[in-house]
Amino acid sequence: MEKKKKRLITAALPYINNVPHLGHIVGSHLPADIFARYCRAKGYETVFVGGTDENGSTSEIAAWKIGIPLDKFSNTLHEEHKKIYEWFGISYDNFSRTTKEIHHKTTQEFFNNIYKNGFIKQGNMKVFYSEKDKMFLPDRYVVGECPKCGYKEASGDQCEKCTSVLDPSQLKNPRSTISGSKLELRETEHLFLELDKLSEKLRKWIESQKLWREQVKSLALGWIKEGLKPRCITRDLKHGVKVPLKGFEDKVFYVWFDAPIGYVSFTREIRKDWENFWKSGKSEIFNFLGKDNIPFHTIFWPGIIMAEGNFNLPKNVIGLQYLNYEGKKFSKSKGIGVFCERLPELGIKPDIWRHYLTELIPETSDSEFKWDEFRDRVNSELIGNFANYANRVLNFIYTKLGGVVEKPKKGKEEKIDSELIEKIKTKKRETEELLEKSEIRKAYSGILDLSSEGNKYINDTEPWVLLKSNPERTKIIFYNAAYLLKTLSVLFAPYIPETSQSVWNQLGLKGSPQDKNAWDDAGKNFDAKFSVNKPEILFKKLESEEIKKYKSLASKGTDLKEFFDNQSKKV
Ligand code: 2FM
Ligand code: ZN
Repeated sequence: MEKKKKRLITAALPYINNVPHLGHIVGSHLPADIFARYCRAKGYETVFVGGTDENGSTSEIAAWKIGIPLDKFSNTLHEEHKKIYEWFGISYDNFSRTTKEIHHKTTQEFFNNIYKNGFIKQGNMKVFYSEKDKMFLPDRYVVGECPKCGYKEASGDQCEKCTSVLDPSQLKNPRSTISGSKLELRETEHLFLELDKLSEKLRKWIESQKLWREQVKSLALGWIKEGLKPRCITRDLKHGVKVPLKGFEDKVFYVWFDAPIGYVSFTREIRKDWENFWKSGKSEIFNFLGKDNIPFHTIFWPGIIMAEGNFNLPKNVIGLQYLNYEGKKFSKSKGIGVFCERLPELGIKPDIWRHYLTELIPETSDSEFKWDEFRDRVNSELIGNFANYANRVLNFIYTKLGGVVEKPKKGKEEKIDSELIEKIKTKKRETEELLEKSEIRKAYSGILDLSSEGNKYINDTEPWVLLKSNPERTKIIFYNAAYLLKTLSVLFAPYIPETSQSVWNQLGLKGSPQDKNAWDDAGKNFDAKFSVNKPEILFKKLESEEIKKYKSLASKGTDLKEFFDNQSKKV
């Protein structure tokens, strides 16, 4: 048998200048988690890593603004991020931090190799200096007008409106984030990654990608066409990974140089055999990230890998679009959105969120969170379709068939039964094909269709009519129905893991629908019998009144100052 490959899955490392909102969950952590759970069940040796992106100016500015020492600020927010992702069931094998020593060491090793390979040059750069703040102001310490789209609040490294990657000197009317003061350009010496030298290699590599979504590919090729320039990888900051080169000891690396190396260092942190995931031909890497991270993951990070020379490039870069909220952009300061720190208090199970959020994964275009749609989709699809099917099957077997259904003897099945078995096999194959392409949302809708087929099978065979006149046939129908339910619990497991496990247990099955190889068993290996346990209600419908309450609670994101004040009260 062919030995299964290893898979390394990453979700973009969030900055910790704030507590995450639903857009962050939908835009990388959740899709990466669903894919990682699928890969494990499919039998791949899987490592799923993520962590907080803590170096550079982003957290420094946020901590400074509310007057909290940086290490306290970062420790607290790292823990808060971790807690939220755990609550959502994001199954990271390692959720780490770029402030760890192993990360600094790995980044410096990367740099040394790139330097040795001749892809680093020194050069003078004009950097904004603030007389008032008495310092050079890199990237995010500078705000101004985007030269491409005119957005007035563009940050020095990237315009969040049009996603253009910028250099602070390109901004019109630049000013200091700290004091709002005017700035002057002064010369200072920096190191540059010579991306221009890699342009042709990058273009060929991007063009040869089979799995990448067209949008991601054409964005990447567009940047190459515009012409790649050497990109500055050092900054005049205190907080970050020190540059191991004579004359540059007082500088740190640009945060986008060290952050993606986090994918490597976090693997290294937990696996002695980490190199097998990064340097072996038997490993595949999948990066999940939001729209504004696409240039860094299709050009800059692959450029770093190529310049270093020893590491694997990603097999797929899954760049997702944005999630909006009721027609507007998420905004914590304006209280527009759903803020994750409040979710556990609402009492809605994580799987209910995962169901709706999966349907919102912005795979091809921006998507929109709507409370009414949340209620309707949960009630009609998750509860009305799948939970209803599970309950019908389990209840009937438990209350009417003595809790046990056995595999029917050969020749006993009718056409409608073999059609159902065929549908199960086809759907399982299709789901797998879609997941391999990271079409997570489409795959989910197919699984829901299969669950509808289950409801239809029961409606069409009318077992309640047959129960008295033909108990043997009724049992066959419910054996098939239970078999479909088992397959559904495997296919749904990456999406709604707790619910799938509960259905699995109620079916009287051992282990988990997420066990290694559970995927390949489903739709293939028939069980001799199902001895079901007492059925439990999986969910309770969402009522409009409750939704109103949830809406007002979850939209009240605590601002950071308040968040830290509350934290200190807890201690
Ligand atoms: O946009 C962000 O939140 C960045 N911190 C993402 C970094 S992803 C990386 F690590 F490559
Ligand atoms: Zn712009």
